[in-house]
Amino acid sequence: MNALGIRLASGFRGWGLALALATLLAACGGGGDASAPPSGGGATTLSAAATLGQKIFADTALSASGRQSCASCHVASAAFAEDASASGVDHGLPVALGGPGMDLAGFRNTPSLMYTALTPAFFFDSDGSPNGGFFRDGRAATLADQATMPFTSSFEMANADAAEVIARLKTRPYLAEFVALYGDAVLADPRTALARVGSALAAFESEEPSFDPFSSKFDAVQRGQAQLTAQELRGMGLFNNATKGNCSACHPSTSADGSTPPMFTDYSYDNLGIPRNPLIPGNTSAAPAYTPANGSDGVQTYYDLGVCGPFREETANLAASCGQFKVPTLRNVAVTAPYFHNGRFATLKEAIGFYVRRDTDPQEWYPTAADGSVTKFDDLPASYGGQFVVKAGVVGSDAGYLGNVNTAEIPYNRSIGDTPALSPDEIDDVITFLCTLTDGYDPARPSAQVLPAQCLAAARTTAAANTP
Ligand code: HEC
Ligand code: HEC
Repeated sequence: MNALGIRLASGFRGWGLALALATLLAACGGGGDASAPPSGGGATTLSAAATLGQKIFADTALSASGRQSCASCHVASAAFAEDASASGVDHGLPVALGGPGMDLAGFRNTPSLMYTALTPAFFFDSDGSPNGGFFRDGRAATLADQATMPFTSSFEMANADAAEVIARLKTRPYLAEFVALYGDAVLADPRTALARVGSALAAFESEEPSFDPFSSKFDAVQRGQAQLTAQELRGMGLFNNATKGNCSACHPSTSADGSTPPMFTDYSYDNLGIPRNPLIPGNTSAAPAYTPANGSDGVQTYYDLGVCGPFREETANLAASCGQFKVPTLRNVAVTAPYFHNGRFATLKEAIGFYVRRDTDPQEWYPTAADGSVTKFDDLPASYGGQFVVKAGVVGSDAGYLGNVNTAEIPYNRSIGDTPALSPDEIDDVITFLCTLTDGYDPARPSAQVLPAQCLAAARTTAAANTP
């Protein structure tokens, strides 16, 4: 969890204290301040930069394949995460395909872009822990920096360099808008021009209301316009209870500073020891040639170590951060399967089951050898080495990368034979609470929101089963 508390990006349309009060009232199941904040949407006029950014976001002509844009992987109907079936290519992988021929697999599960613009720029806490920033390893300090990168990623939009992106930009119908905004001269320097493309995209992601509508049932409850069911309330209690789920330690369910609704992330980084995902081609013996080879244990050649690489370079020597990934928001999590940086889990039931049974029943998640021993944390190399040389003076644990896994905080402070922090029924309760974080709830027509099957499967339907 975050040592300092959260610093939020500026420019957020403020909510004031009404929200904190509404939270208290809502927790008691009643009342609230119906005069409070926006239910999202509304008549917002995008700036010229954001209007340009909107066009670029959806323009496949800026990719080497001619078939991929930001919107191909960040699909509006899937909370701006990937939805392979919507793109017409149901590849069945936890990672998107891209590249010049649209057949190169990526390495990470595509995150939702909803509420992403509210992420603070990357910084180190006073105790040296990473916080904020963009991508799962925080390697882009700002949203505008991030937005320049997919264009030249070889397994995404796959332009060779900035010059190739700008050559394509010059053929686009919105070139005049680009020049009117940033000037002719900018085109002469492709790197500066690409940076402006990034600014336009960041303006779109920051201004367009559908990226942060705050229109979930949870938000309606905060405003006093709806009530949680008994099961959802139980789920929220388990989520917040420091001796049960303890989820809110890293995914806060209350506002950090009273001026924004809860974000369900403190933007800190943690190492959960997520199991290796064999469905990612880079994790297999048939890894594609562009897979970074940073493994050092003689078994695997590639490990995704998050903050310490291989996609992030300048923090490669932060040994204690090897295996850490950014805490994601849980808003809209019900519609953004699969889960975690490597998409290892297909459902929330599995993801939460992993949280509470990782240490009590490790054989469920990790490879078991013939002698019955389980290799826990199999997506981390057992020892330091390879390109990640530990600098003198940098503190790493004797256990190497494995010692970086969080084994101290509830719910993962258990051992084999202990009772898991949440029972199967309690996991269902937490799932129904997470489902209330799905945007698109209309308090006037609650039944109009169609929740995903995994939400319906977790919900108790009888009144008897759904009493506090
Ligand atoms: C081929 C699929 C693909 C395409 C195309 C793509 N993205 Fe992404 N996007 C991803 C993946 C995967 C990640 C996570 C990568 C990582 O953490 O290293 C990501 C991460 C992001 C993030 C960071 C989110 C966060 O929580 O930190 C933003 C913002 C983003 N993309 C915006 C864009 C924009 C803007 C474009 C177009 C210029 C774009 N993406 C194109 C797949 C894609
Ligand atoms: C100590 C901090 C911490 C605690 C406590 C914690 N989480 Fe997380 N959570 C994380 C981090 C870090 C990630 C991302 C890890 C990764 O991708 O490797 C994450 C990811 C997730 C995801 C996947 C989201 C996505 O979009 O892929 C879900 C779901 C989730 N957490 C739910 C929970 C629930 C439910 C609880 C309580 C039972 C909980 N978390 C407790 C830190 C925490």
